[in-house]
Amino acid sequence: METLVVDHPLVAHKLTALRDANTDSPTFRRLADELVTLLAYEATRQVRVTKVTVQTPVAPAQGVRLAQPYPLVVPILRAGLGMLDGMTRLLPTAEVGFLGMVRNESTLKAETYATRLPDDLSGRQVYVVDPMLATGGTLAAAIEFLFERGADDVTALCLLAAPEGIAHLDKVFAGSGKPIRLVTAALDERLNENGYIVPGLGDAGDRLYGVV
Ligand code: URA
Repeated sequence: METLVVDHPLVAHKLTALRDANTDSPTFRRLADELVTLLAYEATRQVRVTKVTVQTPVAPAQGVRLAQPYPLVVPILRAGLGMLDGMTRLLPTAEVGFLGMVRNESTLKAETYATRLPDDLSGRQVYVVDPMLATGGTLAAAIEFLFERGADDVTALCLLAAPEGIAHLDKVFAGSGKPIRLVTAALDERLNENGYIVPGLGDAGDRLYGVV
């Protein structure tokens, strides 16, 4: 899997504030949104475009437009919702599909509880958003689901990633022959015994939306 850790002072600044346990929920949401927009800029470097010509007030100019079918953005519920606006701000014509997955806290395995996606994803570029790549179980299950529907090009955006999660994705998709990219703001040290990223930022869903 191709992994890009975005190295930029603004990304580091916003991520540091997200990590801070004293950052309140409204500020956390705003910072996550801003951070995603910065990650999205990097994650969309390979977005497909078609050549077009437009007429400026002076002369014809060659340019590009996003190719159709437009990309699909898939937030993994619930925490991925906190990354949706940051993505669609840069990709306003993208369609949005939803995958509801929850980590079973005893087995640490991903379980799907809701799906709302196009049946056929052939030829679509898909951007999956989920703040924390921890064990990798949820993201691997989500990407497998997208591949089963025909997706052939998947980019995952995560605020933070753990080495264990990256290793898991590499193992699951080794030899799949399908391009998978990961774009993240930081690669942290490890997971703790509860499956939390260390140093991490805590439970992203709780910090975005409260403990509900
Ligand atoms: N999910 C979270 O929200 N935080 C972690 O550290 C790991 C998984």
